[in-house]
Amino acid sequence: MTKVRKAVIPVAGYSTGFLPATKASPKELLPIVDKPIIQFIVEEAMASGIEEILIITGKHKRSIEDHFDSAIELESNLSEKEKWDLLELVKDTTMPNLFFVRQSYPLGLGDAIYQAKAFVSDEPFVVMLGDNIIDSEVPVTKQLIDLYNETQQMNVALMETPEKDLSKYGNVDKGTLIAYYGNGNDVIKINHFIEKPTKENILSSYAIAGRYVLTPEIFDVLAKQDPGVDDKIQLTDALEKISEVQTVLGRVVDANRHDVGNKVGYVQYSIEYGLEHPEIADGLRELVIKKAEELKNN
Ligand code: G1P
Repeated sequence: MTKVRKAVIPVAGYSTGFLPATKASPKELLPIVDKPIIQFIVEEAMASGIEEILIITGKHKRSIEDHFDSAIELESNLSEKEKWDLLELVKDTTMPNLFFVRQSYPLGLGDAIYQAKAFVSDEPFVVMLGDNIIDSEVPVTKQLIDLYNETQQMNVALMETPEKDLSKYGNVDKGTLIAYYGNGNDVIKINHFIEKPTKENILSSYAIAGRYVLTPEIFDVLAKQDPGVDDKIQLTDALEKISEVQTVLGRVVDANRHDVGNKVGYVQYSIEYGLEHPEIADGLRELVIKKAEELKNN
């Protein structure tokens, strides 16, 4: 059995939703309090047993590489000042097992994943999308890897999602129930996939939650995939195609998804994370309560 050791994190897209903040800096480096969004994703990969990570990046995203490299001047400065805690924080983000490749044209998520073909070679791999920070006791990526180890089948994370939000995501049908784990953590065989459905063609309440275990067969399909929604090559369309010849499972995950790719989700998670942050929790709590009272009285 081949172990799932590799993860692919695509970050090449422009992020017009956060302009002007993202004019010169990638949105993946926007901090949630003091930790860049992409670091949450890399930490989830590490906690799931991933050994090598490929980041699919773009021209305007060079600072992501710098973030995960050593920072020798900063390190010696912190060590001269004997700021050991900060030094450790900085050193912890130096990742030796990170690889980078560029997506040269913004042709969509499917095309971004295609850039991972050489890195992946003949192994199963994980895809983790950066717009979603997902909290759960067992990392969602680990749950998918466990399912792959049990079944040797490609699989994707699904979340029950309100109808009004389904058009923002990839959507799948209720499929065929394979295993019932209780608490809604079912495993299904997915029969149909659709990217960003309109109200009329919603398949079920399951949205794809931005975590996937794929096998290299996906590259043959991606190579021939025509553009779909938004005139982009969609990974979801490639999954629809491959599900005709190969089983693709869905694991319904009971987790807390923070959609930090939009402003409200970003601010909301910054507050939630801040309320757990040892340095600022007390002050922030006071502020939130005070503000909530003011808002209630207005
Ligand atoms: C992408 C995928 C979509 C998935 C979503 C999860 O969409 O194409 O299938 O449900 O991520 O966040 P995007 O957010 O890039 O529009």
